[in-house]
Amino acid sequence: MVKFTTAGESHGQGLVIILEGIPAGLPVSEDYIGIHLGRRQKGYGRGGRMLIEQDRAKIISGVRHGATLGSPIGMTVENKDWANWLEAMSVEPLEGEPQSPRSRRITRIRAGHADLPGAMKYGFQDVRNVLERASARETAARVAAGAIAIRLLEEFGMKIHSHVISIGNVNAAPVEDPSKIDWAAVEDSPVRCADSDAAHRMAALIDATKEAGDTVGGMCEIIVENVPIGVGSHVSWDTKIDALVAQALMSINAVKSVSIGPGWEVSTLRGSQVQDVILPVTDPDRPWQRNTNQLGGTEGGMTNGMPLVARFGIKPIPTMVTPLPSVDLDTGEEVLSHFERSDVCQAPPACVVGEAMVALVLAKAFMEKFGGDSVSETRRNLDGYLKTVGPRKIYR
Ligand SMILES: Cc1cc2nc3c(=O)[nH]c(=O)nc-3n(C[C@H](O)[C@H](O)[C@H](O)COP(=O)(O)O)c2cc1C
Repeated sequence: MVKFTTAGESHGQGLVIILEGIPAGLPVSEDYIGIHLGRRQKGYGRGGRMLIEQDRAKIISGVRHGATLGSPIGMTVENKDWANWLEAMSVEPLEGEPQSPRSRRITRIRAGHADLPGAMKYGFQDVRNVLERASARETAARVAAGAIAIRLLEEFGMKIHSHVISIGNVNAAPVEDPSKIDWAAVEDSPVRCADSDAAHRMAALIDATKEAGDTVGGMCEIIVENVPIGVGSHVSWDTKIDALVAQALMSINAVKSVSIGPGWEVSTLRGSQVQDVILPVTDPDRPWQRNTNQLGGTEGGMTNGMPLVARFGIKPIPTMVTPLPSVDLDTGEEVLSHFERSDVCQAPPACVVGEAMVALVLAKAFMEKFGGDSVSETRRNLDGYLKTVGPRKIYR
């Protein structure tokens, strides 16, 4: 089964990733993972941390001579900033009085973060014990694991993309046919948006928000092309691919909404406006075409052969240069929130994290459907299945 675990604190020594269930014989490299880690670090509106960290995953197990072995893949991503936090994040108990101001207890709780519930739940006196792990630094580990899942999907012809479709109240022009999106332009855009006019307005909004000491959220879209029909299952709640995608995206820090297909709007539409009509089969190699993909490529918890399209809304970052009033953990009295170095808008990097999370759950469901201990065995299983997919009088 494809599954992964991450460990690591934001200012600790580094991040650790263990990814299991990837079949043997998949070409992977640290350079390839580095491309995705680099994509997560870009983006207009990011804070100073990104200037310090230039993430690089080190593969320490599960890969030999450039290809996976089928064994757990172990990786580490070093925190370059660790050198400045040796005392504050020391694994060993501190001897004597702490010298670094970074070692000071944090008691000025930040609303909108894990600070308060985390401190209560774990019985901590210092909010740093919570915020170090709750920080979105952990999403670098997800992107490292996700890069290998993306590699697996690519091996079987799938292609995953992401773009920002809105920041604050600035929307990119709607795109009817995602195959027309200029993905190279998205990668070049500082806000991950191919609509250059909207991209300029998004950047201006980020500038104005920064000027005001505030933050702004956005909406991201993930698209996976060439997904075979029948990945996921209708038989149980926890095998439905749309539900798995929703959980995976909702688990990203600050994500507050996920939609597949029309999303919230679905309750206002008529049945005739929502379905993707199935067209007569004219090409036996491309059965079950639709001329629309309003439902985002899933029906009954399974992929239906159309691109998988999911969106998520990310809230504005709760840490602001102009802090909101809050309370002190010790006294319960009013204070200003703690300020920890912060981004202004995290929608562009969140897209890349979204790709990773969708790739990881899709890879899991894909391997559950097609199985195989090696890439070639999985390929035989996929090819054999695809030969059976078509009108029943022609294909059995
Ligand atoms: C890529 C990314 C970068 C983020 N950067 C910051 C940041 O610099 N400062 C901050 O306060 N929150 C940041 N966040 C958001 C917090 O991690 C998030 O709001 C917090 O963990 C609370 O989680 P919740 O809103 O899901 O409850 C970031 C989130 C993502 C996805």
